[in-house]
Amino acid sequence: MCRILPATVLILSQAATAAVRYFPEARTWALETERAAYVLRVDSEGRLAHVYWGARLQDGDYGAALEAAGEEYPGWGGRINIEPCLKLQRADGVRDLVLRYVSHEQTGDRLVVRLKDITDEIHAELGYTVFQPYDLIGKWVRVQNGTGGRVTLESVRSGVWTIPMAAQYRLSYLAGRWGREFQLVREPLNQGMKVLESRIGKTGHYLNPWFAIDHGDASEESGPVWFGALAWSGNWKFSVERTPEGRVRLTGGLNDFDFAWPLAPGESFEAPMIYGGYTPGGFGEASRLLHRWERDEVLPDGDSPELRPVVYNSWYSTYFDVNEGLLRKVADIAASLGVELFAIDDGWFGRRNNDRAGLGDWDPNPEKFPRGLGPVIEHVHGLGMKFGIWVEPEMVNPDSDLYRAHPDWVIHFPGRPRSEQRHQLVLNLARAEVKEHVFRVFDRLLSENAIDYVKWDMNREFSEPGWPEAAVERQKTIWVEYVRNLYEVWDRLRARHPSVVFEACSGGGGRVDLGMMSRSEQFWTSDNTDPFDRLKIQYGFTMAYAPKAMMAWVTDVPNRLNRRTTTLAYRFLSSMMGSLGISAALERWSEEDLAVARQMIALYKKIRATVQHGDLYRLASPWDGDLTANQYVSADGKQAVLFVFRHSQQFRDSLAPLRLRGLAPAGRYRVRAIDDKLTGGAGPVSGAYLMNYGVRLRLGGDYDATAVVLERIEGPAQQR
Ligand code: DGJ
Repeated sequence: MCRILPATVLILSQAATAAVRYFPEARTWALETERAAYVLRVDSEGRLAHVYWGARLQDGDYGAALEAAGEEYPGWGGRINIEPCLKLQRADGVRDLVLRYVSHEQTGDRLVVRLKDITDEIHAELGYTVFQPYDLIGKWVRVQNGTGGRVTLESVRSGVWTIPMAAQYRLSYLAGRWGREFQLVREPLNQGMKVLESRIGKTGHYLNPWFAIDHGDASEESGPVWFGALAWSGNWKFSVERTPEGRVRLTGGLNDFDFAWPLAPGESFEAPMIYGGYTPGGFGEASRLLHRWERDEVLPDGDSPELRPVVYNSWYSTYFDVNEGLLRKVADIAASLGVELFAIDDGWFGRRNNDRAGLGDWDPNPEKFPRGLGPVIEHVHGLGMKFGIWVEPEMVNPDSDLYRAHPDWVIHFPGRPRSEQRHQLVLNLARAEVKEHVFRVFDRLLSENAIDYVKWDMNREFSEPGWPEAAVERQKTIWVEYVRNLYEVWDRLRARHPSVVFEACSGGGGRVDLGMMSRSEQFWTSDNTDPFDRLKIQYGFTMAYAPKAMMAWVTDVPNRLNRRTTTLAYRFLSSMMGSLGISAALERWSEEDLAVARQMIALYKKIRATVQHGDLYRLASPWDGDLTANQYVSADGKQAVLFVFRHSQQFRDSLAPLRLRGLAPAGRYRVRAIDDKLTGGAGPVSGAYLMNYGVRLRLGGDYDATAVVLERIEGPAQQR
C-alpha cells in the first residue's frame, strides 16, 4: 500500500542500470529514466542549479556545455525576485534565506542533496526518486530547524519544474466546478504568473493539481511535453511563471495562502511529494506513462493488480430513501444483471432522511434497518456480490447527536458565524481527540459488519478555518494537520481492514489527486452522470489519472442535471471507458432494458482488463467537433477496444475512417462491432491497415455510439 509516500521510505528500483549518475568533475547529477534526463549541478558559488530536463543526452554532454537554468530549490533571500520554494522568518524577524550545497548521498534510483543557509543551521534536504520505466521523477523536501530559536515557515513548496527555453510555451490544466470537473484548458504562457491552486481545504473541483507544459507544438500523438502532479489532498498551489528572461518555471506544493508553520529548535517539516515527467510522445504518451505508473506504483493494489468490479450504487435510485426491503429487491435484480458489488449510498444512518440531519451519528437508522445492516449484507453476500457502504466521516450536521455533544469539535473561530454548506460543518480532524473518534467509529463499523467496500465522501469546503484550542502561533497549521490526520485515519483503517476497497469521493471529483490515489482504489469522478457531458469530464480525468480508478455509472434518463435523454446502450458505452457502475431504479426497468444491461455488463467483463490495465489512445477529442473516440490496447497487445460517440450529425455527413493506434503493424486482427455500425467487414486485417486506413463506422443522428473489439489472431508479441 501507499508506495509513493512517505519520502523517508526507500523506494525499490525496477531499473537495471543506475538511475542517478554523478559526474564529480562537473559536480553534476543526471537522473536518467528510460528516455529522459533531469540534470542538476552545484555551481561555483555552491548553489544547487537546475541544468536540464528533456530527452536523454550522451555522457559527455552533462558537463559544462549545459548552462545553469536557475536555482533548483530557491530560498527567499539575497536578490531573489522569482517565486521561492522556501520562505521563513526567524524569531528575531530576519527573513533572509540563502541555501547552499552541503553534501549528497545516492543509492540506485534515489538521490538526496543537503542544502544549508549561509549563516544559520537551517537545512533543506531535497530527495529525488527516479521511476525509470515511466520517465518520471519524484521530489520531496524536508526542512529542519537546527538553530536555537523558533523559525516560522511561511512557504514550503515541494519543488520547481523548469522547462527548457523556447520562444513559446503552453500550459494545459484541468479546471471546473461541481458537476463539471476536469475540463481541459490549454493557454499560452506569457510573461507573468499564472496561479493554479486550492484554498478550500481539499483538492477541489475548481482546479486539479496536474499540469502539462509544451512549447506550443505538441499534439495528442507527438511532440515534447513536460508534465506532473502533486500528491496532496489539501490546499495546494502551482505558480507558473514566465520570467522576463523568457524561462518558464512551475513551483508546486503546499499553498502558502494562510500558511504558517512554527518549527521549534530541532524540529523538521516534510512537504508532500511532487512528480514530473518528460515525453517526446505528446499528451497521449504523457497520460499513458502516468497511468502505467499509477497502476504499478501508486494505487493500493499495485502489487497484485485486481480488476475493479461492476458496481451497483443506490444513490440515483433512492437518494435518502433506502431501506432493507427495497435494497433486498434491487439486490436480486442487480445480481441477475452481473453486478459484483452492491453499495448503499447516503441515507442509511442516524436520522438521515434528507441532507439536514444525521451526519456524525453512524448507527443504522432503526426505522429503515430495524435489524441493523446484517440482514442486507447477508442477502447481498448470499447473491454472490460484495457489499459496500457510503460514509462521510469528516462531517457533522448541526442536527446530530455528535454535534449536540461536541459543538467545539468543528472547525470554527470562537464567537464568529459557522457557515454551513449542505447544512453541514467540518469536524476538526487536526485535533487528536476528533481524529481518534473518527477512527474508532469507522473501525467499529468495519469490524462489526462484513463490509467489503467504503465510499468515503466529503461534501463541503472549509470556511472560517479556526482551531481555537491550539496555541495562536499554531492555528494556521490546521490546513496541513487536517490532511495529515485524514491520511493517518485512512491508513490505519486500511491496515486494520486490508481486504476493504476504498473509493474517494467529494461531491463528485473534488478530491482526486495522487495523495488520495495511494489510499483508495477508485474515485467518484463527478455527480454529473450525463453520458455525453461525461465524455469531456472523462477526457480530462484521463489526462492525469488512470481509467481504472475512474468510476462511471449508468443512471436513469432524462438525466437529472440536464434533462438529456440518451439510449441505454450509449450510457453504458460512456461508462464502460472507466470502472463500470449502475445507479438507477432497476426495479422500474423494462425487460428490454434489463436485457441490454445484461449484455453490456457481459461485454464489459470481456474487455475490462484491456480498459483497466491497458493503454489508452484518445483518438478523437470531445472538444474538437462531432466525434469522441477512445481506444484501449491490452498490456499484451492481444485485444484492443474502440469506443466511438457521434455527437450530432449534420447534412448526412458520413464519418471518415478512424485510424487506430498502438497495434502491431504486422499483426492480424479480427474486428467485431457490438452492433451493425461497422462497415467494411470483420477482417482479419493487419495492424498496418487499421492504423493507416482505419475502421469505418456508420454513426448518425444525435448521440449515437458503438464499440468495436479487436482480437489479434496472429503476429508478433506487442511491446509497450
Ligand atoms: C455526493 C456524492 O458525489 C454522491 O455520489 C452521493 O454519494 C451524495 N454525495 C450523497 O450525499
